[in-house]
Amino acid sequence: MDDINFLLVAIRWVHIFAAIAAGGGGLFMLVALHPAAQQLDEATRDGFLAKVRSAFTKVVILSIVGLLASGFYNYLAVTRHQHDGQALYHALMGTKILLAFGVFFLSSALAGRSKAFEKLRANAGLWLKVNVFLVAVIVLLGAILRAMPQVAAS
Ligand code: HEM
Repeated sequence: MDDINFLLVAIRWVHIFAAIAAGGGGLFMLVALHPAAQQLDEATRDGFLAKVRSAFTKVVILSIVGLLASGFYNYLAVTRHQHDGQALYHALMGTKILLAFGVFFLSSALAGRSKAFEKLRANAGLWLKVNVFLVAVIVLLGAILRAMPQVAAS
């Protein structure tokens, strides 16, 4: 047990748990909440979804903060040194981070109340699908990055 780096274990736990919260919540909204809400009459649906959004917004904000903090720490303090000079690793990581910002934007707009994104929420069925697809690609990139051989032990 002595040679386990518990700080890295904690960072990885935060990253994976935040990914589960953001990704799992989005999937639940796509396959269960959104289709069920369409069965309700407009007034009931709007009231119900407003309550769901105000509760889920807290999960979205916490998972974004968790993913950014654990992700940037992990990349800047640990993995970039393990993959020094490995252009493919950094290109894939850059792509993962850009896609993550797409997910952060969509998750915030879909769960938020800002008038600017009312049109986007009105088309939630499409954007929930795009969001889940992006999370699936990001998790695949995470798995590929983790499997890439390290060039130097940190
Ligand atoms: C929706 C957003 C994100 C999701 C769902 C996500 C998901 C994941 C997953 C599932 C892994 C593999 C975890 C493991 O096996 O240890 C991973 C690894 C990683 N992620 Fe993320 N992530 C997201 C955003 C970010 C962001 C914004 C950053 C950087 C700022 C980041 C940096 C990293 C790093 C450095 C690794 C470790 C890669 C390695 O082992 O070499 N992630 N991510």
